[in-house]
Amino acid sequence: MSPPSAPPAPDPLQALLQQAIARDGGWLPFDRYMALALYAPGLGYYAHGSRKFGTLPSSGSDFVTAPEMTPLFGRALARQVAQALEHSGTDEVWEFGAGSGALAAQLLDALGERVRRYVIVDLSGALRARQQERLAAWGDRVHWVDRLPEALRGVVVGNEVLDAMPVKLLHRVGGQWHERGVVAGDGGALAWADRPTGLRPPVEVAGDHDFLTEIHPQATAFVRTLADRLTAGAAFFLDYGFPEAEYWHPQRHMGTLMCHEAHRADPDPLQRPGRKDITAHVDFTGIAVAAQESGLAVLGYTSQARFLFNCGVLALAQGASVQDTAALQKLVGEHEMGELFKVIGLAAGGWWDALGFAEGDRTDRL
Ligand SMILES: C[S@@+](CC[C@H](N)C(=O)[O-])C[C@H]1O[C@@H](n2cnc3c(N)ncnc32)[C@H](O)[C@@H]1O
Repeated sequence: MSPPSAPPAPDPLQALLQQAIARDGGWLPFDRYMALALYAPGLGYYAHGSRKFGTLPSSGSDFVTAPEMTPLFGRALARQVAQALEHSGTDEVWEFGAGSGALAAQLLDALGERVRRYVIVDLSGALRARQQERLAAWGDRVHWVDRLPEALRGVVVGNEVLDAMPVKLLHRVGGQWHERGVVAGDGGALAWADRPTGLRPPVEVAGDHDFLTEIHPQATAFVRTLADRLTAGAAFFLDYGFPEAEYWHPQRHMGTLMCHEAHRADPDPLQRPGRKDITAHVDFTGIAVAAQESGLAVLGYTSQARFLFNCGVLALAQGASVQDTAALQKLVGEHEMGELFKVIGLAAGGWWDALGFAEGDRTDRL
């Protein structure tokens, strides 16, 4: 007979989540849960050293983003950034959520001496170490900061950063709106629990069918803070998402919350927290309204495909390798990333005619 084995050591992130639930009186709002699962120091998905970004699961990665696929992405975006630097008379680029540092390398390469300082703001210390290694060739032109300064002059970029900001979950059941939170169920397993709430999506959802959705107070607060601090320059955010009429369309009754692990998507953030990414689509109307209310102009809003074409990506792709050409097809393909991904441009000091929105601007659909 073999000796009884020791009980498995409790997962430290699970233990932290259980403590947070207990501290909050037994019910943790989902946005707090998501913040811990992604960013708890040393334990959250973005706070530990797993690989995360890559093209294939065999690399140990979980998902791929545009700058990981081909440098053509960064080279095209660089044209828009160059125009914005020129227009605003600034010489700094600020990147939020720089991931592996791939986009930073592409922008620094393409923009050359036009960028005096490249500043990275990332919540993830583990990624900062990777970025420092990747960007060592640019020496002290690249800086890392933990928070925004009181005043910022330059061009801000963020690829797939807004979708990584914690969301609140709202659940309409039997015609009543509830906020969805997390409790410790039988044996401590994490489980959902809904509580009546006065919170509502920004637009009324037609019908009285059950409806699970998200709202994005952190992303809009982030844009308001950015707007307060950006005294000259512009900001460009690229991400998957919709305008509000599509986001809260009666048919989208399961919301957009999604997890990614080993290049597989699943809808259950309560399983394996810390081992997988958790995201929600971006409400681009909310981003535009928050920006405008805080004094920024909306330069434009369009699909990723249209934005890259406007920035001249096809000319940049002349003579590109087969791999880069195939990756570009994914970035602009209507049924791949070209249409689901959008780009929004914001500017301090009023509207100007930005290259990336020259044709096919959809600001009127926000
Ligand atoms: C999905 S990854 C995208 C990484 C990279 N931009 C890319 O395209 O490969 C999201 C990144 O956003 C960062 N992040 C999330 N919220 C942030 C915030 N409020 N400020 C700065 N970075 C943030 C995460 O740490 C992570 O690096």
